[in-house]
Amino acid sequence: MKKRIAIFASGSGSNAQKIMEHFKYANDAEVALVLSNNADAYVLQRADNFEIPSHIFDRHEFYQTDEVVDLLKRLEIDLVVLAGFLWLVPDNLLKAFPNKIINIHPALLPKYGGKGMYGDRVHQAVLDAGEEEHGITIHFVNENFDEGEVIYQARFRVEPGDTLEQIKFNGQQLEHLHYPKIIENLLKKYN
Ligand code: GRF
Repeated sequence: MKKRIAIFASGSGSNAQKIMEHFKYANDAEVALVLSNNADAYVLQRADNFEIPSHIFDRHEFYQTDEVVDLLKRLEIDLVVLAGFLWLVPDNLLKAFPNKIINIHPALLPKYGGKGMYGDRVHQAVLDAGEEEHGITIHFVNENFDEGEVIYQARFRVEPGDTLEQIKFNGQQLEHLHYPKIIENLLKKYN
């Protein structure tokens, strides 16, 4: 049976797009569900385009009920992939999918992570600090923002005069290139 992936995203979903493209014709894995806390998130349109079902939830459902966990279990999800998902993962979900929830972060963790460190703020902080190197991190998810065990990092040089847009773009390119492959490799390790 194909391994089944669920993607959580809060916004545009360009990473989700790459993951859905990557597994569209794959033999051993598929994206079975896209979930969002944001009814206006463009990722939902992207899921529709791939004819992948989606589920929208609110704070109450996510933090006060088991509905999301029950749905993931019912759909026999093997791996939960966060791709631009801005809410902290609750305990019931962490317990239901031990070592089966991963995230991508647009910096070289443990630098530039934690609550509030997302989007342009990350890249601005990197520029403000005069970093010569920047990159991306794919990691397991635990009860804190951006703190689980690192699975993979990719890095690039920050050149003198690089703008925020430039380093953001460089990071996105790396995310789109590596996230689908890391997911594929991880799934191969599961029985
Ligand atoms: C990515 O930069 C990812 O690292 C971070 O959120 C962003 C999501 O972008 N967690 P997109 O929605 O996939 O375009």
